[in-house]
Amino acid sequence: MSIATACANIALVKYWGKRDAVLNLPERGSLSLTLDALRTYTSVEKFSGNSDELIIDDQPQSGKALKRVTEFLDLVRAEAKTTERARVISKTTFPLAAGLASSASGFAALAVAAAAEYGLKLSAAELSALARRGSGSAARSIFGGLVRMDAGKKADGSDAVARPLFSREEYLQGVTFDQLAPFGAVIAVADAGAKEVGSTDGMEATKQTSPYHSAWLDQVDRDLAEAERLIRDGTFSELAEIVEGSCLAMHADAMAARPGIIYFKPVTLWAIDRVRELRKNFLHTMFTVDAGPHVVAFTVPEHMQKVAKALSEHPQIKQVITSRAGEGAHLIERMP
Ligand code: DP6
Repeated sequence: MSIATACANIALVKYWGKRDAVLNLPERGSLSLTLDALRTYTSVEKFSGNSDELIIDDQPQSGKALKRVTEFLDLVRAEAKTTERARVISKTTFPLAAGLASSASGFAALAVAAAAEYGLKLSAAELSALARRGSGSAARSIFGGLVRMDAGKKADGSDAVARPLFSREEYLQGVTFDQLAPFGAVIAVADAGAKEVGSTDGMEATKQTSPYHSAWLDQVDRDLAEAERLIRDGTFSELAEIVEGSCLAMHADAMAARPGIIYFKPVTLWAIDRVRELRKNFLHTMFTVDAGPHVVAFTVPEHMQKVAKALSEHPQIKQVITSRAGEGAHLIERMP
């Protein structure tokens, strides 16, 4: 049996649109922070059954969820030249039903555990490319801290992989992990039911029908370059402008699809407003929103509790999760 853990990540500069839906290649790059509190543990064990088995948080899965995992394991098995089935057991430390980036930690942990169980010796970049086949954002969860995903140019997708934003040389020059990833996040989980349009379908519909999509793609390149520069050399509020801008531009693109896709709920706008108010009052915080109603407020560890308290003051925020930056996906000895 092989066991791995991976943390989910939340993007500061968003991924919204694929250049190849089969290989799951993004149209543009993205930039994210891996988050320690949103964690998945996954074990993979080969066995002599006729089909794979999947258990998530003690619930046996069938249908769509199992099919997605079997298709992913088929990629690993093809590489390992075997047809042997596997039992996959997965546990998350955060509410799955909330639709919080669980595919990112889920497929990153599955990639690492399955590659080990089937005896594949993959580099971190190869693991990232493998995780991407499960979910685009999972490619980023192979790495810890701030992570840059490249869109790549190759048709086979081998260069559509993530990498840590800061190089090994920068780490070796004595820059500590805390200096490189001074961020944490407060995740305000809205009480708003299951999401209506998943990100895979939402981004495809946006690409096909939104008149703003090409403007969005041009903006991503500018935002990536600017965000990278500001993380090294800028102020928190300069970075906030780019991060919030990327989120709002992504949602504007989705809203302009026909029919329009609206992930925001009233509580989402309330939380966005609150984050901006806190920043005016000198707290380091900036918001982002994925393909759902929940608001994630990036912040610094010193301001985390104040931001969390402010965001919990709405009856429709059912849970507030605080998190430091997390580490990359890796193998572990046993299931916790
Ligand atoms: C809004 O990675 O969930 O969270 O590749 O189809 O699995 P698939 O999509 P997914 O999309 C994430 C979209 C996003 C923005 C982001 O994380 O960059």
